Amino acid sequence: MTDLPDTMHALVLTARDGLELQEVPRPTPGPGQLLVRIAASPVNPSDLMTLVGEYGIGADYPFVPGLEGSGVVVAAGSGVVARWMVGKRVALATGNGGMWADYAVVDASRTIPLPEGVSLGSGAMSAVNPLTAIALVALARKGGHHTVVSTGAGGQLGRMIRKRAHDKGVKIINVVRRAEQVAQLQAEGARHVLNSSDARFDEDLANLCRDLRCRMAFDAVGGAMTGRLVAALRPGAEVLVYGALEQSAIKLHPGKMIFREATVRGFWLSQWLPRQGVPRLLWSAREATRALMGGFAVSDVARIVPPEQAEAGIADYAARMSAGKTLIRFSDEDLGVTPTG
Ligand SMILES: NC(=O)c1ccc[n+]([C@@H]2O[C@H](COP(=O)([O-])OP(=O)(O)OC[C@H]3O[C@@H](n4cnc5c(N)ncnc54)[C@H](OP(=O)(O)O)[C@@H]3O)[C@@H](O)[C@H]2O)c1
Repeated sequence: MTDLPDTMHALVLTARDGLELQEVPRPTPGPGQLLVRIAASPVNPSDLMTLVGEYGIGADYPFVPGLEGSGVVVAAGSGVVARWMVGKRVALATGNGGMWADYAVVDASRTIPLPEGVSLGSGAMSAVNPLTAIALVALARKGGHHTVVSTGAGGQLGRMIRKRAHDKGVKIINVVRRAEQVAQLQAEGARHVLNSSDARFDEDLANLCRDLRCRMAFDAVGGAMTGRLVAALRPGAEVLVYGALEQSAIKLHPGKMIFREATVRGFWLSQWLPRQGVPRLLWSAREATRALMGGFAVSDVARIVPPEQAEAGIADYAARMSAGKTLIRFSDEDLGVTPTG
């Protein structure tokens, strides 16, 4: 580690909404840990929530955000497995931030070596969304659901859910909020796409749910949407709320839940993953990285920005999320992705 710098650049959240590029001490890996030189880390909706102090990790300031990323292992603490990883390109996710920096320390078990055909740019987005798509579709199948309503369906995760569901024989009723998203999803081959901004949306959704006997929804939106889903689904419905894109309280009349015997419950990948056990975890991680090579897990990247331009990159992403992710680049490694924006 002698040729590594003692300090590094990191985007530090010093208070709610207070992101600063700072020079800070470079972390040192402990037993079983790796030091990864970060290549890139995406901006996800969870990061937008973290920036305003509303994400579930409850960290104290100052705090380095970034829940997933990719990079090259440059050093390891003690441990045979950790040492074996030195020099490898990896995807990593800590579950508690730290990726928006030149270097991050992570438990070796929190990394996935990237296969030859997977770029560092794609690898940076291989954990959060692909594993969530695997988890949600698995939950639908476990519950015997053949059709599921999916909101936020024009985003990267919504599109992954649709493709993963298709691969696993589950139909998706896609809900988006703009006409151009309807056209885009239809062009990608989606069969059922509804626009929640249309006047007939609630009626059309209820009719489709009746025809397709749909009793389940994956809800990324919350707010009024959750109540609209419960009203449209068949009685005995289950709504899995996994996102808070509307940033407002769920609006749901108790009568709709009681007389339709509906269940609304939360889903968080960080809680779901540890419940799976090591073999299933490894299998899911392998499925996710394999699917980066033209499979369900591919994400669009709208722009790649250096840390100095992170704030502008975050604002651009928040203004039009469906356009694709902002990737923050921390090293000059080839990321192997072409921005669409
Ligand atoms: N619970 C978990 O473990 C877990 C794990 C992964 C992701 N998530 C959640 O999954 C959701 C989607 O993530 P993503 O990476 O797919 O995001 P993304 O690629 O940025 O896509 C977000 C999509 O939602 C739409 N949208 C934004 N605000 C909306 C609103 N108020 N009402 C309806 N639609 C809205 C966007 O459309 P526009 O283009 O019109 O903005 C875009 O199509 C996020 O809420 C994220 O936090 C949760």
